[in-house]
Amino acid sequence: MTQPSSNNHQTPIPCRVVVLISGSGSNLQTLIDGQQQGMLPISIEGVISNKLDVYGLQRAEQAHIPSQVVNHRDYDDRESFDAALANTINQYQPDLVVLAGFMRILTGDFVRQYQGRMLNIHPSLLPKYQGLHTHQRAIDAGDTQHGVTVHFVTEELDGGPNVIQAVVPIISNDTADSLATRVQTQEHIIYPMAVKWFAAQRLQLKDHHVIFDDEPLPTHGHQIHNN
Ligand code: GRF
Repeated sequence: MTQPSSNNHQTPIPCRVVVLISGSGSNLQTLIDGQQQGMLPISIEGVISNKLDVYGLQRAEQAHIPSQVVNHRDYDDRESFDAALANTINQYQPDLVVLAGFMRILTGDFVRQYQGRMLNIHPSLLPKYQGLHTHQRAIDAGDTQHGVTVHFVTEELDGGPNVIQAVVPIISNDTADSLATRVQTQEHIIYPMAVKWFAAQRLQLKDHHVIFDDEPLPTHGHQIHNN
């Protein structure tokens, strides 16, 4: 994401980002804030929701970011929805596609198009608790710690490979809601970090391994521990 300038110096240009949402868009907001405050070298070119009337669309509008709805209910099957979604994404010519609470399972064909340039955030310490209801499942299992993971998207649902995890302790009397609140605070820290690394070209996916500053990361990715 650099282009030559007339005096032969490389002028950084911001990483073009499209954000996919299905809901409140609090993670989207952290990226908008990071861009606006000059903390993230990104340009959010578009926001796409698969649901009408979600709050994340208002956040995009308030930030003057173009948004579109590609409603999965308008399509007969996953393949046709994913084709329409890809069409919409590609209009923005993104360097990076960010799934931020996007609650649709994506087909292999779709995922392969964006291999190495699509990130997701999942509220568990992957590979534990892929899928839904992660907070309750961690509590029910008697786990002492839980957390959230940012990972590259591959064909395996919530499969990693991991870029960064934040570890959050489970405390006595935690409910799924109380735990989710503490986990989400961490989401808002680690997702901008991962996006910043990608935008600064410090992060790559190679043969199912995450390479950070030219070195492979451990399987769990970077880890942040909270007490
Ligand atoms: C987050 O908790 C994320 O981990 C999960 O969906 C939620 C999205 O929240 N995948 P928001 O729409 O970003 O507020």
